[in-house]
Amino acid sequence: MGHTLLELARDIAIHAGESALEARRGGVEVAATKSTATDIVTAVDRDTEALIRSLIADARPGDGVLGEEGDTIDGTSGLNWVVDPIDGTVNFLYGIPSWSISVAVVDGPPVPGEWTALAGVVVNPVTGEVFEASAGGGARGNGRELHVNAGIALDRALVATGFGYSAERRLEQAKTLVDLLPKLRDIRRIGSAALDLCAVASGRLDAFFERGLNPWDHAAGGLIVGEAGGFVGGLPGMPESDRMFVAAGPGLFETLQTAIADAERAAGIE
Ligand code: IPD
Repeated sequence: MGHTLLELARDIAIHAGESALEARRGGVEVAATKSTATDIVTAVDRDTEALIRSLIADARPGDGVLGEEGDTIDGTSGLNWVVDPIDGTVNFLYGIPSWSISVAVVDGPPVPGEWTALAGVVVNPVTGEVFEASAGGGARGNGRELHVNAGIALDRALVATGFGYSAERRLEQAKTLVDLLPKLRDIRRIGSAALDLCAVASGRLDAFFERGLNPWDHAAGGLIVGEAGGFVGGLPGMPESDRMFVAAGPGLFETLQTAIADAERAAGIE
């Protein structure tokens, strides 16, 4: 019997994580900057994505691939793999143990809000944690069922966020926090959106949001949150997009969406 998509995604993500961890032991440095000087890539990001792509091509040559560090491959099967070889590259560079490999398989175009996520795996190679979900199959962390926190009031919510790489985006994000932070229990900035989402799915955080997130940052983690009983979306009434990504449990999700929209309006953000 062949692998299920979840088993294959898990094998690939674990293998890639072991390889990245091993490479890190040999030292790591910035190979290049991308959109801005703060947006970095290391040789390990590139090598890890190449490894993931070759494992996908060997197992499922007809599938498409959208990855952070390589060209998009349009497949023939209708399925697409959405891959972040190292999510949390700055943590990886500094040796902060919060970086991850994120691998998702989606049915349909690799466009948030248009795809149906089928399987998603996020691995933290440093802690050995493996978070995973398949559509309709629930979410697990190291084999244990995951459940989001439900019914959390906004002023009791521990909420993670992240910041993009352009100075303009960061100024908008900082202005949004001016209005939002006093309404929350607190904010966390962990540095890997995929791990933030797994933390929401595990109940270690109540919610996560970020403006300008890329599909590879949330494809796997978004499914894991949904299968753990949470919700993902954009601004109020909108699907998730690069404009806004919000994840939270029932009872908090819509309140937080509205609070973020209010904060952006107060900050004069279109
Ligand atoms: C980044 C991380 C970070 C988020 C950024 C992402 P990368 O991914 O997920 O937490 O705030 O928006 O770009 O660049 O380390 O793969």
